[in-house]
Formats: sequence, C-alpha cells, structure tokens
Amino acid sequence: MEPSQEFKIVTLGEGRVGKTSLTLKAARGQFHEDERSTVNANFLQKDITFQGNQIRLHLWDTAGQERFRALAPNYYRGAKGAIVVYDITDKSSFDRVVSWVKELSMQADKDICIVIAGNKCDREKERQISKAEAMEYARKVGVLHFDTSAKTGMGVEEIFSELGRLVYEV
Ligand code: GTP
Repeated sequence: MEPSQEFKIVTLGEGRVGKTSLTLKAARGQFHEDERSTVNANFLQKDITFQGNQIRLHLWDTAGQERFRALAPNYYRGAKGAIVVYDITDKSSFDRVVSWVKELSMQADKDICIVIAGNKCDREKERQISKAEAMEYARKVGVLHFDTSAKTGMGVEEIFSELGRLVYEV
C-alpha cells in the first residue's frame, strides 16, 4: 500500500544520547552497541498505519556533536515533528533538551509536534534525572514524554506511532 501522507521528522539532542539508535531501531529493528557518531545527518524512513491510513515518516537523524550544531536548523526547517532525545544516565543531556525545546518553539514551524525521549532506560540503575522531574518539565511545556531504550526496543514503537498520530492530526 502506498502511503497516503508523508511527514518530515527530525531527531535532536546531545551527542551519544541515542538518536541514531532510536531511528535505526524504529526503521529497521536494528541496534548496534558500537554505533558511531553521526556526521551531518542520516536519513531513514518509517511507515506506520494509523486509522487504516499508511503514513510515511521521513526521519532526519541529526548529529549531536557541538561542531554540527549550526546545521540543525537546516534539518528542523519544514519538519512537522521532532523527537528531542536525552540519555537518562547523563544529566547534561537533559539540560540540552530544555534548550532544544526553546529553540524549536522560536525557530521551527509553528505547528511542529514535539515529543521527548528519555533514552537508555535499560540502564535504570545509573539514572541521573528522576522520572518525576522529566515528566514535570514535559507537562510544563505541553509535550509528551516517553521512556525508551533503543537497545531493548522499549517505548520505540510507541514514540514513533504517537508522533505519527500527532503530525497526522495537526
Ligand atoms: P551522535 O551521532 O553523536 O549525535 O549520537 P547519537 O545520539 O545518534 O547516539 P547513537 O545512537 O550513536 O548512540 C551512542 C551510543 O549509545 C552507542 O554506543 C549506542 O550503542 C548506545 N546506545 C544508544 N541507545 C542506547 C540504549 O537505549 N541503551 C544503551 N544501553 N545504549 C544505547
């Protein structure tokens, strides 16, 4: 079945938080322990079915390293959805979420749908951001928050299908 609608989605977040791993898991069911840092950006597609409609997500997975920082607007421009990712074992990556959400709300399309992924939930014992703090922040800025693990697959289908639903319904 050919997709009835296509949407541009971007992943943002600090380096090494798992942006590539989440998109790779969602699009191809794969996970690599030794995933390399992205240079510029990667492109993948994911099809989802929503209320009998086939929807294609064009996933632009951006590079999180600071030296690629200036490229990000090229990728979020025109995006209908954004997944802002942090690593639950790294406090500074959560602080970075706050600045991405601010930047998106000022610079991206006004109707962009944002969701937050607290990734690497398979490493719960090393958690540095309490779930309550993350949920409270997400509630305050009015976006959905998902616990994910690209390694185990936890929350991966959920976050992509929920974002697909949101962009479809906008
Ligand atoms: P940049 O390209 O540098 O921005 O990184 P990224 O955010 O795309 O992270 P990437 O997917 O390359 O993952 C970085 C490292 O974290 C890799 O070694 C992955 O295997 C690992 N990783 C990613 N997601 C998870 C996860 O959910 N759990 C665990 N345990 N490791 C993960």
